[in-house]
Amino acid sequence: MRLNTRFGQYGGVYAPESLIPILTEVERGFIQIQKDAAFQIRLQDLWRNYAGRPTPITHCERLSQELGRDLYLKREDLLHGGAHKTNNALGQLLLAQYLGKTRIIAETGAGMHGVATAMIGAKLGMDVTVYMGAVDIARQAPNVARMKLFGANVVSVESGGKTLKDAVNEAMRDWITHPDDTYYCFGTAAGPHPFPLLVRYFQSVIGREARQQMLDQTGGLPDAVFACIGGGSNAIGMFSGFLADTSVKIYAAEAGGKGLDTPYYAATIQKGSSAVFHGMHSLFLQNEDGQIMEPHSISAGLDYPGIGPEHAHLHDIGRASYLSATDDEALDAFEILSKKEGIIPAFESAHAVALALRMAPEFPAGAKLLVNLSGRGDKDLDSYMTLRGLA
Ligand SMILES: Cc1ncc(COP(=O)(O)O)c(C=O)c1O
Repeated sequence: MRLNTRFGQYGGVYAPESLIPILTEVERGFIQIQKDAAFQIRLQDLWRNYAGRPTPITHCERLSQELGRDLYLKREDLLHGGAHKTNNALGQLLLAQYLGKTRIIAETGAGMHGVATAMIGAKLGMDVTVYMGAVDIARQAPNVARMKLFGANVVSVESGGKTLKDAVNEAMRDWITHPDDTYYCFGTAAGPHPFPLLVRYFQSVIGREARQQMLDQTGGLPDAVFACIGGGSNAIGMFSGFLADTSVKIYAAEAGGKGLDTPYYAATIQKGSSAVFHGMHSLFLQNEDGQIMEPHSISAGLDYPGIGPEHAHLHDIGRASYLSATDDEALDAFEILSKKEGIIPAFESAHAVALALRMAPEFPAGAKLLVNLSGRGDKDLDSYMTLRGLA
């Protein structure tokens, strides 16, 4: 490997020997495309004219008035496909083409990464197979229909807890058996090197744009930025724009599930410990024997027992704070943002909104709080109606 594979003590390439040449090929391609003018022109063109970048920053006027602090949203929900996942899928599928791969595989939890991969696969004329846990297929049905309409083959994963962890396992197995023609479009800033760096590279457009937009629209940097965290891609995308700005506080919202004092949560940094799994050294929810535990969250996209290695490191060095919002707090934020601002957030993003609303009083009056609204919530409406007893 030519790039640094570590973030402090975390990261690395804990992959089967047969995958090392493929991961090395991906790393080599990643280094080359950063300097390849034609690749960059194509990426910028598709981001702008197909996906709809730059996404705007919205000032939440009614909520800001109530909070006495200015709440801003980075609107990744307005990106084509409905979530930040399009940034990464577009970049990685162009990289796959660059490497001469014709078949794409992906894992998905909430279905948003699967949708983004299937959508870009249709646009670029590539053959896409998406692995998705059977539990997630049931709770994210609209996204399954979208993937199929885009022409993707959706494989229902029946092993383990039938959620995102198990979908990653199946996708890895597929890649090992089809190394020559297949590219694994990994959906979050986790897994073996070079994925954490590669995914951050494509998602960092969020933080770059947001920083400049805050300067242009508000005349200064935000006092704090917030993002929800599953594997960590929308969070690292946003945070990377502000890591060097020491005046900006950085907060991540993990899935607190039914509460950290119950066995039902997906708060990896707060409740996890160090292990090697899914190709990386990071923090994971595990039992005393080292068996990875089933996480719980109402949000399929946060329902992952691990976290990207860069986040484990940012936590270690204290640059970002990792807190959590419970299922109930996220549901409340889902309603509040809908009723007060006319924006339905994804369940995942609602965790970030919930954390910002809860923490707002800790900032001085007039402080500027920026939340990454990673996706839109249409996919979660049925679950919302059921959970609130309205169906
Ligand atoms: C809208 C949305 N936000 C956030 C996430 C969590 O992923 P990540 O932590 O990689 O941003 C997902 C995952 O599916 C998602 O769909």
